Parts: sequence; C-alpha cells; structure tokens
Amino acid sequence: MRAAFHDTGATAGALPPFPGLGGGQRRILRFFGRLVPRSAPRPGNRTGTPIGGCYAPGMRIPGPGEIRALHEKYAPTAEAFALVHTHCEIVWSIAEQLISASRPDVDAELVRAGCLLHDIGVYRLYGDDGRLDHGNYIRHGLLGQEILEEEGFPEALCRFCSHHTGVGVTTDDVLRQGLPLPPADYLAETAEERLVMYADKFHSKSRPSAFLSPDAYAAQVRRFGEDKVTAFQALRAEFGDPDLTRPVPDGGVSARA
Ligand SMILES: [Fe+2]
Repeated sequence: MRAAFHDTGATAGALPPFPGLGGGQRRILRFFGRLVPRSAPRPGNRTGTPIGGCYAPGMRIPGPGEIRALHEKYAPTAEAFALVHTHCEIVWSIAEQLISASRPDVDAELVRAGCLLHDIGVYRLYGDDGRLDHGNYIRHGLLGQEILEEEGFPEALCRFCSHHTGVGVTTDDVLRQGLPLPPADYLAETAEERLVMYADKFHSKSRPSAFLSPDAYAAQVRRFGEDKVTAFQALRAEFGDPDLTRPVPDGGVSARA
C-alpha cells in the first residue's frame, strides 16, 4: 500500500501519513470553502487551464526584494523565514543554472518569482507554539495560493504555489490517498511551472537542509508509484541534471546523495 503522497518539503522522505477524520480534518475542511484549486472547474476557467496562456504580456513580476519583504511579512519567526526563504533562494539558484545550461527559452524572470514564492504557504502551517504542522504539509501549496491571491498577485504567480508539489498531484492521488486537498489535478502545465517544480526536487528543508541528487529523488519518489518516477524522468529529460556542487545561497548544506 502506498504511503501518502509527499513533497520534498520540511521533512523530505519522512512526512507522517495524513491523519484520519477528526477534529483536525474538520478544521482543514473549513479552508476548503476558501481554497479552490486553480485547476478545478470554475466560472470563467472551466477547463482549469491557465487564463490567457497564463502569462499576460506586460504582467508585473515582483523582484527578489519585494518577494523577500513578503516572506518577512508572513514568516511567524526568524527561524521559519530563514528555513523557507533560503530554500526558495536555493531552488532559484538551481533553476537559474538549468536555464543557463539548456533552456534560454523560458521566462527567467517569471521562473525566479515562482521559485522565490512557491513555498510561502508553509508559513501558514506554523502553529502558535512555533511548530510546523507536518501532517498537513501537502496543503502548503494551496495556502500559498491563498496568500498571493490576498496580495493581489495574478493567477500566473499564484499557480506556482499550488502546482509544484512532488511531480504533480492528480485527482486520483487525492482520492486514493485521502489527501487533505480538494480533488483536482495540481499539475505543472507551462515550461516555467515545470521548471519550478523540477528545481524544487533537489533541495529539502528537512533538518539539516540537504540536497538530493536526481537519482536519489527518483529512488525516493518510486514508493509513490512508477508513474511518479516516469513523471520525474520526463522533467529530467526536459531540463537536464543540475550540478549540485556549485555554490548556493547560505543555508544550504551540501549532501550529494
Ligand atoms: Fe520547495
């Protein structure tokens, strides 16, 4: 039997299974009234595809300083900020390297914003005691989408939060594994979304933070099904392997698995 789907997030490879029905889940369900996945059918976006091809010409894309200020606004503690923001910077450093190596066609400014914003929802999983709610970690994407919507960001940016988990979460994953998400396909659709998702797989926020080689990630994701390995290998073929020996922002701990 498969374990619950996981992300290379705060506890890569060690996320506890989602707890069963109970008070916690009822609390989660309250969110569902507010959190509608962008891929779910909705008026004006019935197919679930990114509006206008996702990236409207002239769309304002926030820079690193503005995004850092957003992290500071939502981080409950300095420690949480250091963990999440540093991870986001590392993901961007990996994506930037892959763009330089093989994908000059993607919108680097958009990918940078996506990398730096993708995990901002993690902050909403910290309790008053300062502890991260690992059991509901998979919700961080939708929580990030919620933050960015509240901040008035366009859908193209909000989607980086809700569509980067694992190698994509499907409706079938949600239903079969009882994930605490509204049933929908949370799949990267554009090259920019796929690159943010892919670059995120090589660094974990687990303590100590660590890097994962492509082979290590492939081995790790295999326990969630061969289809997940296939999806990861497709991303690998599209973007190539990153060089994880290159310098990264402070906070990363090299671990070449
Ligand atoms: Fe991440």
